Amino acid sequence: MTDKSTLTLGEKTVDFAVRHGTIGPDVIDIGALYKNTGAFTYDPGFTSTASCESKITYIDGDIGMLLHRGYPIEQLAEQGDFLETCYLLLYGELPTAAQKKDFDNRVTRHTMVHEQMTKFFTGFRRDAHPMAVMVGTVGAMAAFYHDSTDIADPHQRMVASMRLIAKMPTIAAMTYKYHVGQPFVYPKNDLDYAANFLRMCFAVPCEEYQVNPVLARAMDRIFILHADHEQNASTSTVRLAGSSGANPFACIAAGIACLWGPAHGGANEACLNMLEEIGTPDRIPEYIAKAKDKNDPFRLMGFGHRVYKNYDPRAKIMQKTMYEVLEATGHADDPLMQVALELEKHALSDDYFIEKKLYPNVDFYSGITLRALGFPTTMFTVLFALARTVGWIAQWKEMVEDPQQRIGRPRQLYTGAEKRDYVDISGR
Ligand code: CMC
Repeated sequence: MTDKSTLTLGEKTVDFAVRHGTIGPDVIDIGALYKNTGAFTYDPGFTSTASCESKITYIDGDIGMLLHRGYPIEQLAEQGDFLETCYLLLYGELPTAAQKKDFDNRVTRHTMVHEQMTKFFTGFRRDAHPMAVMVGTVGAMAAFYHDSTDIADPHQRMVASMRLIAKMPTIAAMTYKYHVGQPFVYPKNDLDYAANFLRMCFAVPCEEYQVNPVLARAMDRIFILHADHEQNASTSTVRLAGSSGANPFACIAAGIACLWGPAHGGANEACLNMLEEIGTPDRIPEYIAKAKDKNDPFRLMGFGHRVYKNYDPRAKIMQKTMYEVLEATGHADDPLMQVALELEKHALSDDYFIEKKLYPNVDFYSGITLRALGFPTTMFTVLFALARTVGWIAQWKEMVEDPQQRIGRPRQLYTGAEKRDYVDISGR
């Protein structure tokens, strides 16, 4: 293990400390690079740049491993529940039975939103994309919960964290209800987190609603699979927004805005649309050819990942969850599932996908599963945002509590015009 790296730039030779994590690649600490050499590093898309030190989540993309606080995602998803994962992400350890009971109770007691927030929802057009409504309403939480926006106060930080985790299902369900033109359903605190959410989405005042435990367990597992994913685009957005001292509600709204993009959280919606467009297995070769064609912008949605160069471990659990949900909802012979399974088989035996190490990611099977649970495609990214909120919050808290924390301020390679003089409009 080396502790030093040396860079030669023209006449200058400069040493940089090499830091070692518990697992994963070493990092070269180039914090003093500009001061010592006058040069910046250039790394668009941050493919080789560690933006922070973190103890929360670790991904080994080459072997397809995802750990939260050291625990493999498979074990958390199979043996625990979502609120346990939330506790783990926030506090660093799995809760004892007493801590779990207390945490579940605290989350449950914060599920209602300020009644005035309903007015905020109804200000949107009915045909607004649910993600647009989410960005607006979550950002608006800062206007409702003034007593938890002082980020310098640890108590307020924790209150804001609990509020966000607890109220996000209520806000997501209200977004859905408004989208489909039904009355909002208040939370019911004797139900568990996922069951409560399904009820707020699918109950109507004129009928009794019984939550199907298989579907509630599936929903809970889907939340676990999306809870955190290290320094991805939306998490980095939350950290960057938070680095200026912005309040947590504003930071999470920024994360939601970033998540909306089709290369990130919007991929499950895009993936289901793609599977519908393909329609039948006989059209798969045509779409594989499109994905490989450099002159065609089409990409196989739900395939490929910046970090995973192997099967995304979340995709395996999602596939299993998909089978359970399709079985429980009477869609075991879903034709889109057949298209997805065939598409995966074709792609994984195609040289292009093998050479570029493109495997199914979590979004490949999540669309089919969420649709079978009853959600329209427009809600998919909202569900992702709901689940990812705890990851964003845990990462935001870690950043705020880090004594090394400074405002994020990337530099640039400027290739624009050199200094020139203003020309009056009559002379241009
Ligand atoms: N279909 C066809 N070709 C692909 C795909 C794909 N889905 N993904 C990557 N490639 C090719 C790409 O064209 C490039 O080829 P070349 O080297 O010849 O230029 C090569 O593979 C590397 O791709 P890249 O764009 O440099 O890789 P990246 O790390 O910047 O992008 C990605 C990662 C996830 C944005 C990309 O794989 C993609 O667009 N996938 C489809 C969208 C998707 O499923 N996103 C969900 C990600 S998982 C959920 C989440 O974490 O938010």
